[in-house]
Amino acid sequence: MTSGSATLRAALAASAEDRIVFDLAGIRRRYETLVGELPGVSVRFAMKACPVEEVLDCLARSGAGFDAASPREIEQALATGVPAAAVHYGNTIKSDRNIADAHRLGIRDFATDSRQDVAAVAAHAPGSRVFCRLATDGEGALWGLSNKYGCSPDDAVRVLTDARDAGLVPSGLSVHVGSQQMTAGAWRAALDRIGDVLAELRPLGIRPDQVNLGGGLPAAGYLDVRGRPLEPPTDKIFAVIREGMQRLRDEADGALSFLVEPGRYLVADQGAIRAHAARLTARQDLRGERRHWLYLSCGKFNGLYEMDALQYRLVFPTHPEGPYVQAVVAGPTCDSDDAYAHEHGLVAVPEALASGDPVWVMSSGAYATSYMTQGFNGFAPLPYTCLPDPDAPAAAGPEEVARG
Ligand SMILES: Cc1ncc(COP(=O)(O)O)c(C=O)c1O
Repeated sequence: MTSGSATLRAALAASAEDRIVFDLAGIRRRYETLVGELPGVSVRFAMKACPVEEVLDCLARSGAGFDAASPREIEQALATGVPAAAVHYGNTIKSDRNIADAHRLGIRDFATDSRQDVAAVAAHAPGSRVFCRLATDGEGALWGLSNKYGCSPDDAVRVLTDARDAGLVPSGLSVHVGSQQMTAGAWRAALDRIGDVLAELRPLGIRPDQVNLGGGLPAAGYLDVRGRPLEPPTDKIFAVIREGMQRLRDEADGALSFLVEPGRYLVADQGAIRAHAARLTARQDLRGERRHWLYLSCGKFNGLYEMDALQYRLVFPTHPEGPYVQAVVAGPTCDSDDAYAHEHGLVAVPEALASGDPVWVMSSGAYATSYMTQGFNGFAPLPYTCLPDPDAPAAAGPEEVARG
């Protein structure tokens, strides 16, 4: 696969300084693909993946709502002009004050996974809708999200019963199958589990009207830690989700609507970093082995937070041909975690690469701007550029855009 659109590559080529570039037309097209694959499903962008104003505006204009993780993200979401009803508080972890702030901002839809959190929502956001996040095992994902959030099916029944008894609306169930989920089976299992809990709730008179399938949809352009293309079965994943939704609709005793909260899927392949080589070196280690190291101008602390779990496709535009050396790729800071997982895979780097030569880091649009430190080791966050979308829908009032 060739990563990055021609427009994105042209912008990287035109940039004389380091920066991260987002292709807004690409993000809009990705959104349209998703809506086409999952007809009737509302999309709420997981803002944490790319809280960049222009990206949020682009998605809002296209019809997306937002999954926000804090009052600050809620404010950012509302600044795009979407109605509060198109934003939910998707973080199960929130203080009393966070809940009250969200409520004051107009949010009436909260994720939860514990009776303690339900009691707090009832106290600080009375009458709101709450959806309970079910735990998943995270298997098949690059980043399983299995421990910190989500409860068992039994607990979900208790949590939603408490919600009803506390005057809240037990509105739904949610899952997150793990980020960059590589198996369709994870969604099948999650949808089955949701169906089981909905069936347990029915005799209690609790009939949620919404299922939130969370994030986890994979990006297409990554390499694994060994440098092999990650080839997610995206078509199969969509087919399994469609089948599972149909099954749940058939079983539901009433109307059931569906949401997804993609982050990575919408932005990862639509962003790329123009970095440069700090230096290509060779050093002998204590075992007597000589290894090449390519130190880039950006790394774990300024754009490539996920570099320990995957490899990005690198382009060396001023050295399209070898000879190559096999090198460990690392960032510029004095932190040994600021490197690819080099026990697994080395990268072919042009031997003639000199300090200052541009290096493009493709498919780096997700979790880049949000995971940048404010200057660890004195390396500033990367500036960003958004390439305008010539076919962007005109800014519309909230009512004029179909959104969930
Ligand atoms: C609640 C929630 N929804 C959605 C997402 C987005 O996940 P992804 O980027 O894998 O689509 C996350 C990511 O951590 C999340 O915590």
